[in-house]
Amino acid sequence: MNDGETSPETTGTSPETPATAPETPATAAETPATASRATGTPPRATEASPRATEASSRATGASREPPGPADTPPPPPQAPAPSTAPPPEAPAPPPEASVAPPAPETPLPPPAQRIAAGYAPTGPALDLGALLWDGRCLPEAQVRVPLAMLNRHGLVAGATGTGKTKTLQLIAEQLSAQGVPVFLADVKGDLSGISEPGAVNDRIRSRAAEVRQHWTPNGSPAEFYALGGQGHGVPLRATVTSFGPLLLSKVLELNQTQEQSLALIFHYADAKGLELIDLKDLRAVVAFLTSDEGRGELRGIGGLSAATAGVILRSLTAFEAQGMADFFGEPEFDTGEFLRTTGDGRGVVSVLELPAVQDRPRLFSTFLMWLLADLFHDLPEVGDLDRPKLVFFFDEAHLLFDDASKAFLESITQTVRLIRSKGVGVFFVTQTPKDVPGDVLGQLGNRIQHALRAFTPDDQKALKATVRTFPDSAYDLEEVLTGLGIGEAVVTVLGETGAPTPVAATRLRAPESLMGPADEAALDHAVRGSALYERYAQPVDRETAYEKLTAGQEERERERAAARATRTGQTQPRSGAESGPGPEPSMLEQVVASGVFRSLARSVGTQLGREITRSLFGTARRRR
Ligand SMILES: Nc1ncnc2c1ncn2[C@@H]1O[C@H](COP(=O)(O)OP(=O)(O)OP(=O)(O)O)[C@@H](O)[C@H]1O
Ligand SMILES: [Mg+2]
Repeated sequence: MNDGETSPETTGTSPETPATAPETPATAAETPATASRATGTPPRATEASPRATEASSRATGASREPPGPADTPPPPPQAPAPSTAPPPEAPAPPPEASVAPPAPETPLPPPAQRIAAGYAPTGPALDLGALLWDGRCLPEAQVRVPLAMLNRHGLVAGATGTGKTKTLQLIAEQLSAQGVPVFLADVKGDLSGISEPGAVNDRIRSRAAEVRQHWTPNGSPAEFYALGGQGHGVPLRATVTSFGPLLLSKVLELNQTQEQSLALIFHYADAKGLELIDLKDLRAVVAFLTSDEGRGELRGIGGLSAATAGVILRSLTAFEAQGMADFFGEPEFDTGEFLRTTGDGRGVVSVLELPAVQDRPRLFSTFLMWLLADLFHDLPEVGDLDRPKLVFFFDEAHLLFDDASKAFLESITQTVRLIRSKGVGVFFVTQTPKDVPGDVLGQLGNRIQHALRAFTPDDQKALKATVRTFPDSAYDLEEVLTGLGIGEAVVTVLGETGAPTPVAATRLRAPESLMGPADEAALDHAVRGSALYERYAQPVDRETAYEKLTAGQEERERERAAARATRTGQTQPRSGAESGPGPEPSMLEQVVASGVFRSLARSVGTQLGREITRSLFGTARRRR
C-alpha cells in the first residue's frame, strides 16, 4: 500500500507515519506555511504524502484506538496510528525508503540550529533522539537531557500506543549504564525485557540510522519485584503501621471523614507504641475501640464516632476478603534496596512487576506512593547532585490522582517537591498532562510528550491544555502533537543551567534492551537466584510472633502488678520498652489490664513502647 491509499483499513499499515497534521481542524488551512514548517515528521513521510492522506491516516489512527493495551506485539514500524498492532515481526518497511537521513553535511536551518543549541550539554547526559524539523529528522541535532537535571522530575505522556513505555525503557537503560539506579513500575509486563539484550530488526535498524544511534543490543542489570509475591518477582510488602492512614484510606476507598477517623485510630495506636503489622492487627484495634470495653478509649480519642469506626471495620473486613492481606505484613520491604549499583558501576534497575495486580490499580498505585514516601523519609538531604541517586518512574500515574482526597494530593505534592533535594527524580507516566494536578505538574521540569489524539471535543480541550503547558516554541504544537508518529515526542527538559530547553519535536532512539516481556521462566529463575529472594520470600509466621508477644506481654503485666502492689504512691520508673511515652500512664495501665487489651495485644504484632512518628505522608519511620 502506499500513502495514497486513504481508507482507514489500509493507512494504518503504511510503514512510516505521515506524521504531519496539516488538516488539523482550524489550524492548517489558515497557516499553511507554518504547518509545513512545523511538522515533526519523519523524512519520508513529508516527501511522499499528500496532505489529505496524512490527515486521513491520523484520523484513522485515532478512530482505531486499540481496544486493549498493545499488550505485546509492537505495532508496525512507525505506523501512523499507534494502534494498529500487527505482529511483532511485522514485515519491515522498505528500508531504503524509510531510512532517509538528510545528507550529513546539510547545515541545519536556523530555527533548528537554535533548538539544537539548547541541547548541547557539556556534562554527562542521556541521548533521547534526533530533532524533527520541517518534516525531516536531523541527526546533527541531537536531543539530550543532562543527567544532573533528572532529579527535577518529569512527565512522559501520550495517547495509548504512542511509545511512552519504550521511552521510559530508553531512559532507564541509559541511566543504569551511567550508574544511576532506576525504579520502574511495569504495569503491563512489557518492561521485563529490560534485563535482556534487544533483538535487532529492520525497524530498529532504520530508526537507528535516522537518529544516528550506534545501536548495540544490551540488557541492564535488573531486579524484579512483585507486590505481595503475586507475579514474577521478589515479594514486596509493607506493614500497616508503615503504610499509614492516608494511603490505607485510599486503598480502602474511604471518604474524607472516614479518612480522618482512620488517622485518629492510627494516632491512638501510635501513641501506645503499637506497631500494626498486618490488616488483622488494625482490625483488632478498631474492633476493640468499637467494643463495650473500648468505648471509653474511643471517647478519649475524641472526634471519632462509633458509627464511623464501624464503617471502617466493615471496609477492612471486606478488603481482607478480597485477598488484600498478602500485601501487608512482614518482612517489610526496605526501599533502600532500590539504591544499589553493580560491581561494574551500573545502576540496578528495579522493576516492579504488576501484571498480576493490574486489576487493582488503586492498590498498586498507592503502593507506589508508599515506596516513594518511604524513600523520602529514609534518605538524607543532599541538595543537587551531579547525578540523581535514583530515578523513579511512576507509570499509570493518573490512577494515583483519581478521586484523591485533598490531604492525599497535598502529600503527593509535598513529597515530590521535597524529594528532589534527596537526590530522587520522579517521572510520572500518564496519557495527558491534565491527569496530573497542576501543583504537581508545575514541578515536572522534564517533559516528553508523545502524540495526542484530538477527535472528541474533550480530546481537543486536552490538546489545547497540553499545548499551554509548553513554553513558546517555533512549532505549531497543536499540529505537531496530533501528527507525531510512534516513538516520536515533543520534548522540553531543563538544560544545565536549569532553564527550560527549547521545545524539540524528537524522533526517539530505540531501546537497546529487549522491547517487550522477558521469558517468564527466565524471569522466575533470576528471581529465585536473587540474594533478596531469601530475605523477602517468606512472610513471617505471625502466629508464632503473636504467641511470643502475648507471653511477654502477660509477663510484663504480672511484673507491673507486683510492682504496683509493693509500691505506695511512688512513681514507678519506666523503662521505655515497657510502656508508652506515658503522658497518661493510668489510662494505659487501665487498658493494659483489661481482658480485651490482652486479646488486642495478641493480635497486634509489636508493642514498641514508644510513640511512632509519622512522616509527611502519614507513613511511619521504619525501625532500622
Ligand atoms: N523509541 C522507540 N523505538 C523503537 N520502537 C518504538 C519506540 N517507541 C515505540 N516503539 C514501538 O511502538 C510500540 C508501542 O510503544 P509503547 O508500548 O511504548 O507504547 P505506550 O505508549 O506505552 O502504549 P500504552 O499506552 O498502550 O502502554 C512498541 O512496541 C514499539 O514497537
Ligand atoms: Mg505502555
